[in-house]
Amino acid sequence: MDASEIGHQKLKDWVASIAAHCRPDAVHWCDGTDAEYERLCGELVDAGTFIKLDEEKRPGCFLARSDPGDVARVESRTFICSKRQVDAGPTNNWADPEEMHATLWGLFDGCMRGRTMYVIPFCMGPTDSPLAQVGVEISDSPYVVVNMRIMARIGNQVLERLGPDGEFVPCVHSVGMPLADGEGDVPWPCNETKYIVHFPDERAIWSFGSGYGGNALLGKKCLALRIASAMARDEGWMAEHMLILGCESPDGEKTFVAAAFPSACGKTNFSMLIPPDAYEGWKVTTIGDDIAWLKPGRDGRLYAMNPEAGYFGVAPGTSEHSNPNAMAAMAKNTIFTNVALTADGDVWWEEMTDEPPEGITDWKGRPWSPGSGEPAAHPNSRFTAPAEQNPGIDPAYDFPDGVPIDAIIFGGRRPGTMPLVYQAFNWTHGVYIGATVGSETTAAAEGEAGVVRRDPMAMLPFCGYNMGDYFQHWIEMRSYIKYLPRIFHVNWFRRDEDGNFLWPGFRENMRVLEWIIERCRGRIPGHETQIGWIPHWEDFETEGLEGFTREDFERVMAIDREDWKREFLSQGELYLKLHDHLPKELVFQRELLASRL
Ligand code: OXD
Ligand code: MN
Repeated sequence: MDASEIGHQKLKDWVASIAAHCRPDAVHWCDGTDAEYERLCGELVDAGTFIKLDEEKRPGCFLARSDPGDVARVESRTFICSKRQVDAGPTNNWADPEEMHATLWGLFDGCMRGRTMYVIPFCMGPTDSPLAQVGVEISDSPYVVVNMRIMARIGNQVLERLGPDGEFVPCVHSVGMPLADGEGDVPWPCNETKYIVHFPDERAIWSFGSGYGGNALLGKKCLALRIASAMARDEGWMAEHMLILGCESPDGEKTFVAAAFPSACGKTNFSMLIPPDAYEGWKVTTIGDDIAWLKPGRDGRLYAMNPEAGYFGVAPGTSEHSNPNAMAAMAKNTIFTNVALTADGDVWWEEMTDEPPEGITDWKGRPWSPGSGEPAAHPNSRFTAPAEQNPGIDPAYDFPDGVPIDAIIFGGRRPGTMPLVYQAFNWTHGVYIGATVGSETTAAAEGEAGVVRRDPMAMLPFCGYNMGDYFQHWIEMRSYIKYLPRIFHVNWFRRDEDGNFLWPGFRENMRVLEWIIERCRGRIPGHETQIGWIPHWEDFETEGLEGFTREDFERVMAIDREDWKREFLSQGELYLKLHDHLPKELVFQRELLASRL
């Protein structure tokens, strides 16, 4: 498509101004067609960025290896540039928007020389959805274009929705590595200097220096969470770091739930759960695995829509055992980044199989064997796969109005303290539970192992404004929803003194989901405790769960007063940090917990 065909003058002017400043060799307006995708993948192979995988084993699939210094989201270089620092709050990096614009203008000056500048109109959400938001990402990375095509609706269909004067979020991205005349490129261009910048007041995004994931695919974390959370606050809806799933019982009753777990706590696995054999006739279907936009519907219920069109999932740990639907989704037409390559042109990562195949090349392109002392795949290696390839996709996955939600689930990785499941007493108590979500750091992560890091609503890295105001927004949403979803907390990761998991997890989490659904429908009593409602043993389905005794149930469900006193004090650290904007409702909830304990 060429610019003369674009009817949106404001968009054309903006693109022209960015092109004049970044000075690319060419400008390409993405149409989003198969032909364009295939051509760009071919060019990425020629450039050495992509390796084409074996066409029999992984049809239409490619492997990309990033620069070893560009492998993850960079939270330390992520900024929320609201006009006032207090509106970014104590948990975000803030910079003055005018100063930041000046810094970025300097960095972007001529930054696309020697490259093509791609214009990617994208829509977060189905293009016919009233909840969807349009963005236009300008990027000098063809890797970004092909990933965006899987993760969002892009191209002509979006320009059509936009019409001659529709609103869009301008997103500017550069890998930050201009090429001098005749200078050869590298397979993964990037820059040591990185900026991932959000301007919530003007609703704009600028990203410099990284080509990886959430730093570069600006529809995902930047727009669909950080900018969208600020829009949602202003407009009375919610942008959340949540999966959405549907669960159908054998008699055809369908329930939708949304769940927020911190990054790398198994959201993708839970959203694609396959019920255990004892649950014949039950079906779990996926609406989304990472992000939910929630809005009260006219019927008084809360509706959820997945703004994404694909999965950008963490590869290590994904297997036929942990997530067969994800494995099927990535069987074809998938882009793998930083996983290992097998001798026969397929991919591999830790825990994909019990034994690694012979002749592996690691994510850095070096021969690898189990004795190498380093993982073959980077721990944050990813697959980018189209949602429609998931055999468990929910038929309502692209319904323009979303699906009605009956339960909201929070969770984290908690080796101690937290029972397998408990239910909040009411919405405000549920907000308290969400606001105090914690996840224990593991030895693999940087920092001290075994420390609980608070990640309120799993949104700590993704909230585009002051976290205290965000809690207030959650509390206020209560008055816009007539039929409030019930709120729960789960913990699949509780361990005994010897470090063994007390709960088998994975498919068996269906048992917890069933209890949650039954509670939402008001069909079974709960057992009231100091922290919320927990299941009675008699109401918790254990049929087919070999060797799981009442004693095991009591251990995984135990509420220990001393543990909870420690938990209470540790939650206080977050309260101190957010003190000046903390809603009084949450202060009272804390007092209530103290008195119950
Ligand atoms: C993600 C994350 O990539 O949460 O989804 O980090
Ligand atoms: Mn995520």
